[in-house]
Amino acid sequence: MTQLSAAQTPQAKPSDSGKALYGGKSTRRITVRDIALAKERGEKWPMLTAYDAMTASVFDEAGIPVMLVGDSAGNCHLGYETTVPVTLDEMAMLSAAVVRGTSRALVVADLPFGSYQEGPVQALRSATRLVKEAGVGAVKLEGGERSHRQIELLVESGIPVMAHIGLTPQSVNAMGYRVQGRGEEAAAQLLRDAKAVQDAGAFAVVLELVPAELAAEATRVLHIPTVGIGAGAETDAQVLVWTDMLGLTGGRVPKFVKQYADLRAVMGGAARAFAEDVVGGTFPREEHSVH
Ligand code: KIV
Repeated sequence: MTQLSAAQTPQAKPSDSGKALYGGKSTRRITVRDIALAKERGEKWPMLTAYDAMTASVFDEAGIPVMLVGDSAGNCHLGYETTVPVTLDEMAMLSAAVVRGTSRALVVADLPFGSYQEGPVQALRSATRLVKEAGVGAVKLEGGERSHRQIELLVESGIPVMAHIGLTPQSVNAMGYRVQGRGEEAAAQLLRDAKAVQDAGAFAVVLELVPAELAAEATRVLHIPTVGIGAGAETDAQVLVWTDMLGLTGGRVPKFVKQYADLRAVMGGAARAFAEDVVGGTFPREEHSVH
């Protein structure tokens, strides 16, 4: 199934076309139509992960137009080693919190490993839960050609889908965490995957850990936006995992992450200051007491 371009969509209104996804004055929730229009304008946009209402509300107030409830919640929020153990129940709970914490961002939720690989009907059942119970505006799933039937049925059923190709962390046990699309054959496969998800009706596609030149080529040949993570500067959008971006993740972070703050140091310092106050008897003081 081929997705209509924004200009072909019957309800297109000229007044929609002037609003930037980031920095625009939209007071309503961003839709996948807004995303299509941004690609037509050649506009770049940011996406961040979020796993809870409070963090999501901070990013929403900052104007982040698309929030991903990634199954990276497995490593970054739930204490698993990989995304593989994350369940649909966990994704539904986290996604509902992010929806409650936002009023403007398009919230996209990951379908976790095991919730769509059996086939299109399983994918539809899982995605329907996230849309109905959690209230997300779209779902994301991993895989190119191998997932095109799932994408087709979801889109036909009215559920917008963001695809995810290149490094697909749910397949870590099979592919490891390695750059994808290096070499002629692998690059050709990546472009076939990108076309397959676009033809199946995906409204955007994440390109994870692929050479910058290949991501640039995919961005040129697709009419849907590409969302890069470790895919160079030429993609239409960029996504980062929020705990990496704000320096909360412990240990090594990937080379493609830019760290905009050091929350781990800030939070650790505050926790130690509190502990010292309690142990030293300097908290609470009179102004923190009720009588
Ligand atoms: O789960 C996630 O956070 C993701 C991003 C890395 C794109 O899939």
